Amino acid sequence: MIIPFLKTRRSSKITSLTSPGPNAEQLQDLLTIGARVPDHGKYHPWYFIVFEGNARREAGDLLRQAYAAENPDAAPAKLDLEAENFLRAPLVIAVVSRIREGKTPEWEQILSAGATCYNICLAANAMGFGSNWLTQWYSYSPTFRQLMGLETQDRFAGFIYIGTATTPNEDRERPDLSRIVTRWTKKSPALNTGGGK
Ligand SMILES: Cc1cc2nc3c(=O)[nH]c(=O)nc-3n(C[C@H](O)[C@H](O)[C@H](O)COP(=O)(O)O)c2cc1C
Repeated sequence: MIIPFLKTRRSSKITSLTSPGPNAEQLQDLLTIGARVPDHGKYHPWYFIVFEGNARREAGDLLRQAYAAENPDAAPAKLDLEAENFLRAPLVIAVVSRIREGKTPEWEQILSAGATCYNICLAANAMGFGSNWLTQWYSYSPTFRQLMGLETQDRFAGFIYIGTATTPNEDRERPDLSRIVTRWTKKSPALNTGGGK
């Protein structure tokens, strides 16, 4: 059951996500599963911000402010569009990577935040919802970060959009394993690094 699920899972188009979203109990499960990821040093180097209901519109005001501050020539219609980003799904969960003081290298703490994002996506899919992990401009906007109250060691790992998918997911091409996998042996030639960049 789980292997076929993992072999076929994929993200839903953001434009296909609609209501209903997860109920309160399902949301609790998503957050619990999001917090159940490998975490070297048990620092839980991440936290979650949930956007639901009208809060998505209110947070949209902050998106508008951030976009306007960083793009002073933006047309009002563009600001309206940006303000609606969180309305594209009934539930949006921001995963924030927070680097904790301690022995665990920063890189490993960031990787753990990525695992959290993916666990939430998988759990949502296992519940029958569509999901999409996006960063977009607002993850990198200094103004939005500040308006959201992030601290200097915090970074948005992603915004997980979750809802009922109205269209089936078309598959996309996956990397050819022969280009990305080598079996190391003492005598093997230089590693095949997958071509491309
Ligand atoms: C960290 C991260 C950030 C992403 N941000 C965006 C984004 O801002 N915009 C976008 O169109 N796709 C973004 N994507 C890609 C989408 O999540 C995309 O739907 C997904 O990679 C499709 O892969 P799948 O078919 O295996 O689910 C991002 C992916 C990751 C891992």
